[in-house]
Amino acid sequence: MSHEIRALSEEDLPLLQEMETYCFPGEEWTQKMLLSHLEYHQAFIRPQETPKTYALVCETPWEVEIFRIATLPDYRKQGEGKKLLFSLFQTYPTKDFFLEVKENNIPAIQLYETSGFQILEKRKNYYPDGSTAIIMKRNKEL
Ligand SMILES: CC(C)(COP(=O)(O)OP(=O)(O)OC[C@H]1O[C@@H](n2cnc3c(N)ncnc32)[C@H](O)[C@@H]1OP(=O)(O)O)[C@@H](O)C(=O)NCCC(=O)NCCS
Repeated sequence: MSHEIRALSEEDLPLLQEMETYCFPGEEWTQKMLLSHLEYHQAFIRPQETPKTYALVCETPWEVEIFRIATLPDYRKQGEGKKLLFSLFQTYPTKDFFLEVKENNIPAIQLYETSGFQILEKRKNYYPDGSTAIIMKRNKEL
């Protein structure tokens, strides 16, 4: 595993909860959801004195799905999200990456498109608020 990344464990639940609150106000995952994610899937930060960015992912034998990636509001547009994303690619070099993102989430789409993701398809009325989902894929390193 790259030294640029640290896998989170259940002990990191308070940190994850705090970051979730700042990054997804009103849409934060509950403690139960986060705990369940830590139990069954994977979560990562970049090891920094003050963690600034994190990702929740799900690895299967065939692919890695990114459920969430976020940077604390004060540290956005400083390359933090992209650094974490590229560390994830290094961590899973043999896997394709998938994700879904709201069509109006321009910062996230910019992050993904400039990191090698391509649009696979769009799904209308995908989210409870009626917005469209964009499904994106990044092929594994060949
Ligand atoms: C999406 C998000 C994770 C991006 O993180 P970040 O640390 O600010 O991203 P970076 O600084 O690494 O930027 C990556 C690229 O996206 C671009 N970008 C980032 N924010 C942007 C914005 N608001 N508008 C336009 N482009 C933007 C950057 O210019 C950069 O491109 P470049 O490398 O070609 O210059 C961050 O905005 C965030 O946490 N948003 C809230 C949570 C969220 O919606 N997560 C995604 C869905 S789960």
